[in-house]
Amino acid sequence: MDIELAIHQRASCPRLDAPGPDAEQLERLLRAAARAPDHGLLRPWRFIVVQGDERVRLGQMLAQCAREDDPDLPDVKYEKLLNAPLRAPTVVVVVAEVILEHKVSVMDQIMACAAGVQNLLLVAHAIGVGAIWRTGAPALSPSLKVRLGFRREDEIVGFIYLGTPCATHKTLSADSVAPFMRALPSD
Ligand SMILES: Cc1cc2nc3c(=O)[nH]c(=O)nc-3n(C[C@H](O)[C@H](O)[C@H](O)COP(=O)(O)O)c2cc1C
Repeated sequence: MDIELAIHQRASCPRLDAPGPDAEQLERLLRAAARAPDHGLLRPWRFIVVQGDERVRLGQMLAQCAREDDPDLPDVKYEKLLNAPLRAPTVVVVVAEVILEHKVSVMDQIMACAAGVQNLLLVAHAIGVGAIWRTGAPALSPSLKVRLGFRREDEIVGFIYLGTPCATHKTLSADSVAPFMRALPSD
């Protein structure tokens, strides 16, 4: 697929059905993510692929860690987190395992991972895999980072939900860039 067409046609799929991507498709998606622009070639991205019954375990981790972070977490939020990973057949957790005190800033390392996610989303669209990038409170949970095997200083860049695209989803018209333009301030 033409790259510009993929960029303009891509749209998130909040509702994703089974099946999820097969092993070959998953490999293509992750290879695309790992081919992001990467300051210092630090390869900061880490991927946890969660499928099948493992999604139940991920849901338990999301809910339990949220309660650990906030003992007053309402039951309704606990339940929602418990079921969150079941919204798609496959969830890829993307984590930036960052190097602190490096000449390449932590921000650059996180941005490289975000660029990788966009690569993944574009290839997903091109090969007919539905996807949506989610973060929410769990991405900021220190206890979840540790529960997933990372350190508190690492960053969860996203939970990428993958599956068979929902039957109907929006088509977006290309934005005019005019409202986003700013002139370089004069001296
Ligand atoms: C870093 C990031 C985090 C996001 N987190 C969420 C989220 O937690 N929940 C959600 O519904 N959408 C989230 N979104 C937005 C969707 O992924 C999607 O991009 C948005 O709905 C716009 O739709 P589009 O991708 O079809 O243009 C996030 C997007 C980004 C870039």
